[in-house]
Amino acid sequence: MCGITGYIGYRDAYPIIIKGLQRLEYRGYDSAGVVLYDGKNINLSKTKGKVSDLQEKASQEISIEGKIGFGHTRWATHGVPNHVNSHPHLSQSSNLVIVHNGIIENYDTLKQELVLRGYTFHSDTDTEVLINLIEEIKIQEKCKLGKAVQLALQQVVGAYAILVFDKEKPNELVIAKLGSPIAIGIGKENSEFFIASDATPFIEYTKNAIYLEDSEMAIVKIDREIRIHKINDDSLVEDLRIQELQLNLEQIEKGGYEHFMLKEIHEQPNAITDTYRGRLLANKGVIKMGGLDDNIERFLNAKRIIIVACGTSWHAGLVAEYLFEDIARIPVEVEYGSEFRYRNPIITENDVVIAISQSGETADTLAAVKLAKSKGAFVFGVCNVVGSSIAREVHAGAYTHAGPEIGVASTKAFTTQITILALMALKLGKIKGNIAAPVYQTYLQELIQIPDKVAQLLEEDAHIKKIASIYKDVPNFLYLGRGYNFPVALEGALKLKEISYIHAEGYPAAEMKHGPIALIDKNMPVVVIATRKGHYKKVVSNIQEIKSRHGQLIAIVTKGDIVVRDLADHIIEVPETLEAFTPLLTTIPLQLLSYHIAVMRECNVDQPRNLAKSVTVE
Ligand code: G6P
Repeated sequence: MCGITGYIGYRDAYPIIIKGLQRLEYRGYDSAGVVLYDGKNINLSKTKGKVSDLQEKASQEISIEGKIGFGHTRWATHGVPNHVNSHPHLSQSSNLVIVHNGIIENYDTLKQELVLRGYTFHSDTDTEVLINLIEEIKIQEKCKLGKAVQLALQQVVGAYAILVFDKEKPNELVIAKLGSPIAIGIGKENSEFFIASDATPFIEYTKNAIYLEDSEMAIVKIDREIRIHKINDDSLVEDLRIQELQLNLEQIEKGGYEHFMLKEIHEQPNAITDTYRGRLLANKGVIKMGGLDDNIERFLNAKRIIIVACGTSWHAGLVAEYLFEDIARIPVEVEYGSEFRYRNPIITENDVVIAISQSGETADTLAAVKLAKSKGAFVFGVCNVVGSSIAREVHAGAYTHAGPEIGVASTKAFTTQITILALMALKLGKIKGNIAAPVYQTYLQELIQIPDKVAQLLEEDAHIKKIASIYKDVPNFLYLGRGYNFPVALEGALKLKEISYIHAEGYPAAEMKHGPIALIDKNMPVVVIATRKGHYKKVVSNIQEIKSRHGQLIAIVTKGDIVVRDLADHIIEVPETLEAFTPLLTTIPLQLLSYHIAVMRECNVDQPRNLAKSVTVE
């Protein structure tokens, strides 16, 4: 994983790099480093910890002058997070310096060869091996940096986005990509170049960006030149594919909220509206989605849909299983990207694979997409980040348009993914004749009410905070739900464990009898989603079973419920809606509950330990 960012141009590079690294911290925050070239010397500073720690250290130990430089924020893969393993890494001569996002799988073999040639290594990283390999090739071949990088990468197995600088060629940066993302922001008339793992570090400077493709490398020069060519041969990429970015600065700042996660929870009414804007024409009874409309036959003829995803996106996939089977009557299988890719799955040309990913960069989901494509399946992407690797790899897709999600714990991505998937299921159900016109119309009219209902729920914040204060110190939590709300139980438990470090498990309510009930006593808080639709009566029986064992019951109920009110210790009411849309509402209080508990436990909500937002390693 990791985030990298660099600058070459006429401005001071240091503040641009530091601010950029702060925006990329969602990609990892085990350690951080920066390197600058001041016209004479390479000045490098790095440290275990966050970018704020780096800032303090760098300003004391190095000159922060220079119009060229780069930085790195790390999520450790090879080697523990400490000073020596932090990036940037220098070559043996100290003339070359590199930052790297990815994994060099054959680093050990390459390292042994370099050791035989007299290289010594200071870190446990694969990256230090790569920079020395580049140096060795540069010496042996007597070539320039660009050529040495190209030849080195031809020997490398793995994934990378790299930025390399050579003191002997101090007017240029070399960038290369395979598997890990990298974007180049282009200043007016090529007067400056910004390089970063995503476009957020340079959004206030330029809207023009190039996303390098796999197996491409670029050389950007201070004298306004940019050249892109292939790594495996010397062919030049003629069309630079400059895109205009849609992102703006306000979207990536906290806007008065204490944490990004809280801001993103509160953005959900707008985010859901943005997801269906222009797609859902409720009064006309129309759903328009380019990627689906253009490929409608593939979906209608599909023998089944396979959904691949990881983490929260996988939970959205589980909700989609209910939606597609219930509304469109298409069989669905939901797979973890990581399991799917390695278990020799049976995939045919009649299958439609839907890949769900907020970042569009999750390595396991991306690999699953490639595998499904190679077997002839039609692959559809549901991504949030425009231009991301998965979005580019799939045959067609739909963006969620949720806006940047920066808090590591996913919130608005989940509800907007469900919105897109609901639109798809409804469109297919209608065309296939599985839902009658009035029912279809009821769905559409209800869907446009959802943002208002989410907004109403957000007003319950103070009540939820009070519940959080009662349970903030417990060691365990259980979450139960049935039908459409079983995935919500899983998602509620995931939210709590990832940001508050309280152990939590999600279960289908009826499965409680087959194990988890043994855990229930007066100390165990159990969150039960018991909305009036679906399997209400059965869930009420489950609630009674919990109460007979003296469990502490927090129930998510439909407004006006009187049955569960009498049984539960606490209730959180959600507005009435159609069963299929209940996850869009029941999720919200669970997000707020986790948020408040984590804040009260003084956890770092936006950057939980050991996690990263975008998991670009398998
Ligand atoms: C990481 C994040 C999760 C996210 C998962 C899948 O684990 O911390 O919040 O759900 O990756 O990410 P994706 O970008 O593919 O949705």
